[in-house]
Amino acid sequence: MTRHSDVKPFLEVLAGRRQSVPPIWMMRQAGRYLPEYRDVRAKAGGFLDLCFTPELAAEVTLQPIRRFGFDAAVIFSDILVLPYALGRAVRFEVGEGPRLDPLDTPKKINALSPHADFEKLEPVYEALRRVRRELDPHIALIGFCGAPWTVATYMVAGQGTPDQAPARLMAYQHPESFAKIIDTIVENSITHLVAQLKAGANVLQIFDTWAGVLSPRQFQRWSVEPTRRIVEGVRKKVHGAKIIGFPRGAGALLAGYVEATGVDAVSIDWAADPAMVRERVQSKVAVQGNLDPLALIAGGAALDQAVDDVLANYAEGRLIFNLGHGIQPETPIAHVEQMLKRVRNYGKLAL
Ligand code: CP3
Repeated sequence: MTRHSDVKPFLEVLAGRRQSVPPIWMMRQAGRYLPEYRDVRAKAGGFLDLCFTPELAAEVTLQPIRRFGFDAAVIFSDILVLPYALGRAVRFEVGEGPRLDPLDTPKKINALSPHADFEKLEPVYEALRRVRRELDPHIALIGFCGAPWTVATYMVAGQGTPDQAPARLMAYQHPESFAKIIDTIVENSITHLVAQLKAGANVLQIFDTWAGVLSPRQFQRWSVEPTRRIVEGVRKKVHGAKIIGFPRGAGALLAGYVEATGVDAVSIDWAADPAMVRERVQSKVAVQGNLDPLALIAGGAALDQAVDDVLANYAEGRLIFNLGHGIQPETPIAHVEQMLKRVRNYGKLAL
């Protein structure tokens, strides 16, 4: 294949130009399923130490690129670095996930600082600069943040919960207080995303992992509207910034999300309805997804079938091949290779 030296197939799709072989990356592609990640992780000490040590964060960002040659690298960081920069205590307990000091009363919310200390996030920007220097020019670099709703669910409860009930309840009982948390995250996320673009990110993703637990009215208010403000705020400072939204579990509300937020692409989970997505979403923006991470664990014929389904459903339009959520630690590396080979052979196989 001949192509101009710095054309990134990933960005081509976001610019509206379908690629004959869809670009591919995986959410959580730097992570525990890789032995080389586990080695660095063991040396780094805590998870946040890894995020905030630029040479190590850059190294683990590049590991999956070296091994698999994906079309995009995603900076190794976390959505919870923002609450940390807002002065909230954030810890990652081994095997248990994140723990924060709960922000669960209007009084505590009143005392929340409106401005993050961006000095604390300087190592993230330094890691981005390092990765962009080392990365092949054909490969896109993704910066990211959590959507305000998803970040707020962890800030309010102090941890992940099965259906994020503490934040949902707070949003009904104390909507003004809850809106203060959301507004604070919106404003500081704009600054964080713009800083990532300036440090070398080519594209941004906004992760709304918990969008699917909201009623349509609450989804509009706490997911769509704050995301729209972030997109607008970032583009005011960086004209034409490319942004991917991931309102996981949004289902039939996806089309309205795309229209209202102005994102360039949406990441979809594996439960999305293909006909609806093609007609009402992919007709307007690029689609990213949506292999079930469990099919990737299973491997074999089930994986081939699941890969072929994603391609058959979406590859005739603008598609970035990805999983419907993050890769799980127990996934065999050979299955990732199997998936990659099949996607890169698209068009050469009879589906
Ligand atoms: O995708 C990547 O490779 C880039 C890095 C990345 C991480 N977290 C690293 C990480 C990204 C994009 C995230 C986003 C993130 N973090 C989300 C949104 C996307 C999603 O997966 O839903 C959320 C909800 C978080 C918050 C978070 N961080 C949780 C709930 C956990 C614990 C669950 C787990 O997998 O352990 C984390 C920790 C975390 N973030 C790990 C990694 C690689 C595992 C920590 C470890 O190595 O011990």
